Amino acid sequence: MENIEKVHLVVEEKFYPPKEMLEECIVKDYESMYKKSIENPDEFWSEIASELYWFKKWDKILEWNFPYGKWFINGKTNITYNCLDRHVKNGKRNKVAYIYVDEEGNEKKYTYGELLEIVNKLANGLKSLGVSKGDRVSIYMPNTVEAIASMLACARIGAIHSVVFAGFSEGALKLRIDDAKAKVVITATYTKRRGKKIPLLPVVKDAVKGLDFVKNIVVWDRDSDLDEGEFDSFLVDFKKLIDNSSSECQPEIMDSEDPLFILYTSGTTGKPKGVLHTTGGYMVNTYLTTKTVFNIKEDTIYWCTADIGWITGHSYIVYGPLANATTSVIMEGVPVYPHPGIWWEYVQKYRVNVFYTAPTAIRMLMRFGEEIPARYDLSSLKILGSVGEPINPEAWLWYYKNIGREKAVVVDTWWQTETGAHMITTLPCYPAKPGKAGKPLFGVEPAIVDKEGKPLPPNTVGHLVIKRPWPSMLRTCWGEPERYEKYWKEIPGNVYSAGDLASIDEDGYIMILGRSDDVLSVAGHRIGNAEVESAIVEHPAVAEAAVIGKPNEIKGESIKAFVILKAGFIPSDKLIEEIKETVREVLGAIAVPDEIEFVDKLPKTRSGKIMRRVLRAKELGQELGDISTLED
Ligand code: WT7
Repeated sequence: MENIEKVHLVVEEKFYPPKEMLEECIVKDYESMYKKSIENPDEFWSEIASELYWFKKWDKILEWNFPYGKWFINGKTNITYNCLDRHVKNGKRNKVAYIYVDEEGNEKKYTYGELLEIVNKLANGLKSLGVSKGDRVSIYMPNTVEAIASMLACARIGAIHSVVFAGFSEGALKLRIDDAKAKVVITATYTKRRGKKIPLLPVVKDAVKGLDFVKNIVVWDRDSDLDEGEFDSFLVDFKKLIDNSSSECQPEIMDSEDPLFILYTSGTTGKPKGVLHTTGGYMVNTYLTTKTVFNIKEDTIYWCTADIGWITGHSYIVYGPLANATTSVIMEGVPVYPHPGIWWEYVQKYRVNVFYTAPTAIRMLMRFGEEIPARYDLSSLKILGSVGEPINPEAWLWYYKNIGREKAVVVDTWWQTETGAHMITTLPCYPAKPGKAGKPLFGVEPAIVDKEGKPLPPNTVGHLVIKRPWPSMLRTCWGEPERYEKYWKEIPGNVYSAGDLASIDEDGYIMILGRSDDVLSVAGHRIGNAEVESAIVEHPAVAEAAVIGKPNEIKGESIKAFVILKAGFIPSDKLIEEIKETVREVLGAIAVPDEIEFVDKLPKTRSGKIMRRVLRAKELGQELGDISTLED
């Protein structure tokens, strides 16, 4: 297949879980459990869902009206009841839900009882602002328990949260607030990164300008920096909202299919898509996957290093771990500040058992050398998770040896914002192969096919598709059903097209090679080529731009932009800096190109579409491939 350029080294050796792990595995017999989930899905999902609390049980497991699926039909529940009240009622009021740590080692613990109280107060506070079921609330918050409480407060009253990663710029934030038509935006005065305070409130203030449907900004004034006089009927004090509200708040009775949240993610064209997840199926599958992939037990200490602004944070910092009454570590800060051993210091300090991070972070920490992790006692670790992009065997082996000390198992979890939960991964009960994600999880029926939907033989690269609906699948794209339907219509055969290239081996292990479309993966973050291009052309000197991804040892991909200037403008280093600044303002730091090259022409098809593939091949010194459609 022409668009596979990466030579993917594979280590065929199998890495077996240690005996102690096998003994304590929740799932011991993957094959039979998987078989049941496929052959008898109604019974399978019914049993799993029954482990959770429902105000009223469902009548039917699935209604599949291609391409629209509904799960746990007519079931009534509230995800916060399952994440909080259920545990408090079961004698876990004083169990720690989160250990928050920052870069300086400051720590704050929140029990399930305390979290429930904060969530209820905030939920009542939101109600007092007029927020009710179905309203959207944008959340632009640092990676803290206050952010989690904001999400849960929305879910408590049936409001739909839309978390925007606090690293996004004003432009990206505005677009998301505008698209969701959020009634309220919750933010903080700042977030901490590398010992510095990064202001958030000013960004929100600018972003909501002209958006009349935004009725309030609720701000968590972390250090009481704001003057009393700055608060008014528009700018509301988060702390006061909590202090002045009752700690009793009946959970809204939610239908299984009532929306839970919108999360924006990049596509190949146009503005980001608002991926919509609903209550019942998402709750059941994040509960099940957290429990089985991370083998969550009563005393497990779990740490997912993601940010709540991404789907990994939603599913595996907030909903999945809480549904399992887990004790989680959550950190605000970066992995290398104040020193590149900070993560391992916290693993040692909190005796973390399950650690979940991204390959880009592993590759970055690898650079500092194995002497850094060697300084710490990491013997508590049992499971090491990876997510966000393919993990190269080199990084896999480093993680396994230097962090897991060859005693912990590595689980490489493939999934997407759209899938809501893990889809393909190794489980702790069966051997892993470095560089291969593993086998499908329960209820997931993947296939590797060609463009026409024809299944391909083993070890052949093709398109990864999912052949049947699953409980935590996205239900639609907010306001854009046609974009939702595209996932199911891209490849013939009524299958969900993931947009990834993959292959499957004789043992049924799936290897993910990367995106098949014009979507970049920079440090595990999904960025549409088109999004960066349209940000670049916002600079007044730019006529046209084309963006490609280049292999990068640490970030996976780095961004290179080819730019045509308008007549009268002369290429200069100053212009390069200005263009970068424009992208930073429009999209945020993660989307800023590493390289900008000024060109006179861009390769285009006769219909005028930029052939990024040609630019990329040229840049990397590769064969140009089929260029019969090239105009010039
Ligand atoms: C895309 C989804 C899912 C949470 C983080 C990213 C890539 C994700 C893996 C993995 C290889 C992976 C895919 C996918 N991806 N996990 N374990 N191995 N690739 O969520 O932003 O929705 O991106 O990330 O390309 O399609 P996302």
